[in-house]
Amino acid sequence: MIITYYGHSCFGVEVSGKKLLFDPFIASNPLAKNISVQDIQADYILLSHGHEDHVGDAESIAKRTGATVICNFELHNWMNSLGVTKTHPMNIGGHWIFEFGKVKCVNAVHSSSLPDGRYGGNPMGFLVETAEGNFYYAGDTALHYDMKLIGDYKKIKFAFLPIGNNFTMGIDNAVIASDFIRCERIIGMHYDTFEPIRINHEEAKRRFEQTSKELTLMKIGESIEL
Ligand code: NI
Ligand code: MN
Repeated sequence: MIITYYGHSCFGVEVSGKKLLFDPFIASNPLAKNISVQDIQADYILLSHGHEDHVGDAESIAKRTGATVICNFELHNWMNSLGVTKTHPMNIGGHWIFEFGKVKCVNAVHSSSLPDGRYGGNPMGFLVETAEGNFYYAGDTALHYDMKLIGDYKKIKFAFLPIGNNFTMGIDNAVIASDFIRCERIIGMHYDTFEPIRINHEEAKRRFEQTSKELTLMKIGESIEL
């Protein structure tokens, strides 16, 4: 799998010949000013919840690329109302088999409203199972005990976890989350974008190292293969 970081919680994951894009928020993210939204390709766009910092560029990228948007039912209705017709509505607990693998929607403890203030349904995370390995995209969430279910039933190759604190869990709880999901390779997200979520990178990596885990903090625009 090839993972590309576009800033905040936005990642591209290339798997089984398909391009997945999670929570696009680029044009309004000053830290991602060197990323050109128009150049991002996607076959599928996965949205964890309705907050602006997760859906900011979903409409424009979906319309330009013709990508299918995978999201909760409320976001699906909203996308449809904006003229994005290729959507696949889901909800927590359900899974669906796509061309690239299986997506299961899992619990996230957070809130969700649309950029215009309307109800955005329940926030969620995604467990993605593919022929190249399984990964967990947590979305915005607090540490919660349901994460143990993921670790109990699936082997997770790597996980995207929020680490910025204030709006989501911070480093301490993300370390515990990585224990719950039994995953040693964590890619950090939802940090540095706004003042209350600035973190000390070295300190964060050290905290994971202390429990024999690896925290990867990708540079915006960087790609890695896992
Ligand atoms: Ni949020
Ligand atoms: Mn957020």
